[in-house]
Amino acid sequence: MASYDFTNEPCDAQFLIPTLNILGDDLIGIELGVGQGQSTLSMVANCDNIKKLYAVDNFEPYQDKLKNPYNNQAAYEAHEADVEFDKLKFYHNLKHSGLEGRITVIENNKNECVNGFEDDSFDFIFADAQMNYEDTLIDIETWYPKLKEGGIFSMHDSDNEMVKIAVEKFRNKNNITNHISWYGNTVLWMKINDSDK
Ligand SMILES: C[S@@+](CC[C@H](N)C(=O)[O-])C[C@H]1O[C@@H](n2cnc3c(N)ncnc32)[C@H](O)[C@@H]1O
Repeated sequence: MASYDFTNEPCDAQFLIPTLNILGDDLIGIELGVGQGQSTLSMVANCDNIKKLYAVDNFEPYQDKLKNPYNNQAAYEAHEADVEFDKLKFYHNLKHSGLEGRITVIENNKNECVNGFEDDSFDFIFADAQMNYEDTLIDIETWYPKLKEGGIFSMHDSDNEMVKIAVEKFRNKNNITNHISWYGNTVLWMKINDSDK
């Protein structure tokens, strides 16, 4: 019996979950940047139609590329102790969630493990690693081909202006003009076809 119940827990993916619930059966998804696993476990606990969720995190120290405007220092720094704690908590949460069978953990850099997946592999992609202009653009450009037609591309921290600019740049460059949702610090849209361009 599971010790932790992740149904109806608030998490970074909470504005994506209702869309996943009605996306179809046997969904295969991936989350880029899982931290302590709050979103990973909430998505799987609340969406019975998720067959497999890949959970990607390198659990390595990093400095956010976003700068604090007052001192020009990194807006956020994850030190060794922080990421070590997140990793321990992630595996602890996973072990006691009762959801291990539907989650595959990939301990790797999100920019490197992308090559291990075929194009059109995923029904949804949720990016929540380093949400600044450069990384947002890298995440969309590298991972969008891995999304199936009819799949959902979603990113957290969309209330950050840099994320917004990067998403709009990618969509404009590829002539993607279909509906897009900006709500509750989460952006999402459906990949209509290779040329929803
Ligand atoms: C904001 S946290 C993720 C929060 C999580 N999605 C949640 O909802 O609880 C960002 C995570 O991204 C991971 N990360 C940062 N850069 C990464 C990279 N290049 N590859 C893989 N993971 C990365 C960090 O280790 C950190 O755990």
